[in-house]
Amino acid sequence: MQKQAEYTEAIKTKYPEQVVIAIAKDKAGRANPVTLGWTMIVSGAPPMMAIAVAKKHYSIETIRHSKCFTIAFPSSGMAEAALFFGSRSGRDVDKLAEFDCKTEPAEAIDSVLLADAVANFECTLESETEAGDHIIFVGRIVCSHANTEPKKRLYTVGPGHKLGSVS
Ligand SMILES: Cc1cc2nc3c(=O)[nH]c(=O)nc-3n(C[C@H](O)[C@H](O)[C@H](O)COP(=O)(O)O)c2cc1C
Repeated sequence: MQKQAEYTEAIKTKYPEQVVIAIAKDKAGRANPVTLGWTMIVSGAPPMMAIAVAKKHYSIETIRHSKCFTIAFPSSGMAEAALFFGSRSGRDVDKLAEFDCKTEPAEAIDSVLLADAVANFECTLESETEAGDHIIFVGRIVCSHANTEPKKRLYTVGPGHKLGSVS
């Protein structure tokens, strides 16, 4: 049985929520990682993923500029990196210079991969759609990578950006 509830109450049931880190280069050629929970697979053939980025974020500029981005699935040991990339703006700091996070060059696009992630997906920008206060970017996956070691994915497990793994 269902009881009508405020949106702000009902949405608290969403956890665990997956976490990704999207990375696009800015005009200066600096790769800018941003942590995102609002993301989904949107096509199987060809493979595509979507990310929702708040209009005020620097990542809007970087993705529009480079027209491509990486989507990394961070591993459970990457909580600190996810919180850093998800609390600083690339407008103010060079996040990858300030936070020690190993990267590898992407193969098919001008971006980087996160070496310790569970998987990385190289995307070319397929389309963008306005959705309220966010822009939904759809990326076509042109190259995929999986970690050579077994790793667990990172999730948001509770309110206030409480990050952890899920069994
Ligand atoms: C766990 C977590 C999930 C987040 N999810 C989103 C999201 O889905 N969309 C979004 O726009 N910002 C999200 N954020 C906030 C951005 O990552 C954050 O504001 C970031 O500093 C923006 O960086 P930028 O200005 O370099 O783009 C999230 C942050 C964290 C820690």
